Amino acid sequence: MRLQDKTAIITGAGNGIGKEAALTFSREGANVVVADFDEAAAEAVVAEIKEKGGNGIAIKVNVADQESVTQMVQEAVNSFGSVDILVNNAGITADAMLHKLTPENWQKVIDVNLTGVFYCTQAVIPKMVEQGKGKIITTSSVSGVYGNVGQTNYAATKAGVVGMTKSWAKEFGGKGINVNAVAPGFVETSMVAKVPDKVIEKLKMTIPLNRLGKPADIANAYLFLASDESDYVNGTVIHVDGGIMM
Ligand code: CAA
Ligand code: NAI
Repeated sequence: MRLQDKTAIITGAGNGIGKEAALTFSREGANVVVADFDEAAAEAVVAEIKEKGGNGIAIKVNVADQESVTQMVQEAVNSFGSVDILVNNAGITADAMLHKLTPENWQKVIDVNLTGVFYCTQAVIPKMVEQGKGKIITTSSVSGVYGNVGQTNYAATKAGVVGMTKSWAKEFGGKGINVNAVAPGFVETSMVAKVPDKVIEKLKMTIPLNRLGKPADIANAYLFLASDESDYVNGTVIHVDGGIMM
């Protein structure tokens, strides 16, 4: 198994891509910390993990709240003794054309998608430095690299995530910590379900693989970056988008 006895914190693991990642990591032998604002969803994922013979705990966290993040990491260490992998997966959208974007919706998305990644990564770094090894994965997006109509706030955060990822890869590479990003294209989750049908139809025509992504497509990229197979991969962005971004 590729993650035998590793402890992985996955934020936003109650639903969508994060949920699929939690189940995938568990199948590969990890102790999974299913961390989500949506506590009931996180508990349901842990129940599924246990039903299948895996090991995990659910933690209610708001990644935009530093105290909540500190508690999450402490609880993970108390439960499993180490933090080997962090997947910064939690994210939200609040889409609007620029002229309709409110300062509140600008700030809300910055707080979760950008500041949340900063808080979570900063909170696990001391433990990973002490261990002399760690894997940090961030979640960017095609929107952050390529831009997207109606996503000023979201695109800013997902481009920012790439900048932070590369900075941390340089800061912590020498300490045995790999930091990499995955930039998904459009994936079938509740996030994309909010996009108007006419936009999805236009979009599909731009994807060379002719389909939206599935959560497992992204979870598999997270798995590679979390496993020892990626030990010489650092500061990179893996595009998992059906070729939309060539
Ligand atoms: N790509 C291309 N064109 C788009 C577009 C997109 N993503 N989003 C909107 N448009 C176009 C619309 O088709 C429309 O064109 P026409 O005037 O020719 O019909 C024009 O922009 C204005 O759109 P609306 O009439 O819908 O304007 P609105 O003010 O009512 O709503 C909106 C604007 C909130 C941005 C809405 O269009 C919308 O939700 N668009 C989808 C935005 C989007 O793609 N979000 C991605 C969510 S998934 C995600 O974020 C995951 C990820 O990382 C990729
Ligand atoms: P989703 O909406 O299905 O799941 C997101 C999860 O994050 C939810 O369980 C939600 O409760 C949790 N969450 C939201 N705010 C939180 C907070 N403050 N603290 C803790 N948890 C919080 O979304 P999806 O699609 O699974 O997205 C996962 C990640 O992938 C996000 O970072 C998203 O931006 C990114 N992404 C998604 C794409 C897609 O097409 N679905 C494309 C590119 C990137």
